[in-house]
Amino acid sequence: MANDGTKIGILTGGGDCPGLNAVIRAVVKASHMRGWRAVGIRGGFEGLLEPMQYGFLDYRDLGPLLTQGGTILGTTNRGRFAAKTGRGGVSRIPQEILDAARAGFDRMGLTALVCVGGDGSLTIAQQLFEQGMPAVGVPKTIDNDLEATGITFGFDSAVRCATDALDRLHTTAESHERVMILEVMGRHAGWIAIAAGISGGGDVILIPEIPFSYERVVAKIQERESMGRRFTLVVAAEGARPQGGDLVVADASAQDREIRLGGVGGVVAREIERRTGKETRVCVLGHLQRGGGPTSFDRLLCTRFGAEAVNLIAEKRFGLMVALHGPDLAAVPITEAIGRLRTVPADGDLVRAGRALGISFGD
Ligand code: F6P
Repeated sequence: MANDGTKIGILTGGGDCPGLNAVIRAVVKASHMRGWRAVGIRGGFEGLLEPMQYGFLDYRDLGPLLTQGGTILGTTNRGRFAAKTGRGGVSRIPQEILDAARAGFDRMGLTALVCVGGDGSLTIAQQLFEQGMPAVGVPKTIDNDLEATGITFGFDSAVRCATDALDRLHTTAESHERVMILEVMGRHAGWIAIAAGISGGGDVILIPEIPFSYERVVAKIQERESMGRRFTLVVAAEGARPQGGDLVVADASAQDREIRLGGVGGVVAREIERRTGKETRVCVLGHLQRGGGPTSFDRLLCTRFGAEAVNLIAEKRFGLMVALHGPDLAAVPITEAIGRLRTVPADGDLVRAGRALGISFGD
């Protein structure tokens, strides 16, 4: 179709995750089908500022983006746009940065902007929208902790990775009759831990939403021992913490971003060993959960999200985020997705299913 002068900008912000490239592909292809041009902005929102970093994207030159991990546009979760202060808290972007971003958008000659990101990036997108920039959002995060969508893309791929890890830890734990702890991502929400924990046959699942007691964790290990099950699989979200205790922080020094969590698995392992005398090992899955290509579920979701983001622009419905509600796509105000995190309900069906199977949440 002949180009009609419409130019769609797309950027990826925050931590990367599987499926970002699949969204880029969908946006670029769907734009092309409408006779629009797509412009990739590099380095997240930073690319809108001087020195501006951007270029036209032609899907015929892009290679196999559907399956490729990471983001060809690059991303960052720090810098001049840092808008997230933790647990959904929001800070205002300085007005001069918003003005400079608007100026960059105008100089690129863009018609609208697709912002792909989690609560931090969507918070920025909302503030740009309030400045009059026509923006739409696509919800991304392996943590799955965004409000207003049933699921974010990247989550399924991360759960697949964590479940594979548990399957592998299962056999070695059983062979050596050890306690094995798998530490997974999840700062404020335990979605990865609970989904992978249940899918991978975990015995103890520790999530931020349910502070645990070492007595209860040890009781589960001993209960299994008494049944002749001489190994135990523990899944711990990085944001899990003992009742009355603190988060385990890997690095609190950064000024322009959230503190870096990590290490709860090691802390729990030492305490289990001390209390039970049982050999306990830890595997920290870390960024393996964010790397690599998306699962087929995520490829489909990313493609639907990307195509729908272009539809919203065609309908001039800005300030909205594409979302999944049940089996269907929806469009919700970005404001509904930010400022509050979606955490695992402590009395929700996942926890109930886990408890029904005898899984301990350490409480
Ligand atoms: O928000 C997604 C997430 O994967 C969190 O679970 C984790 O705490 C954080 O990103 C790690 O980010 P970084 O890439 O800065 O280590």
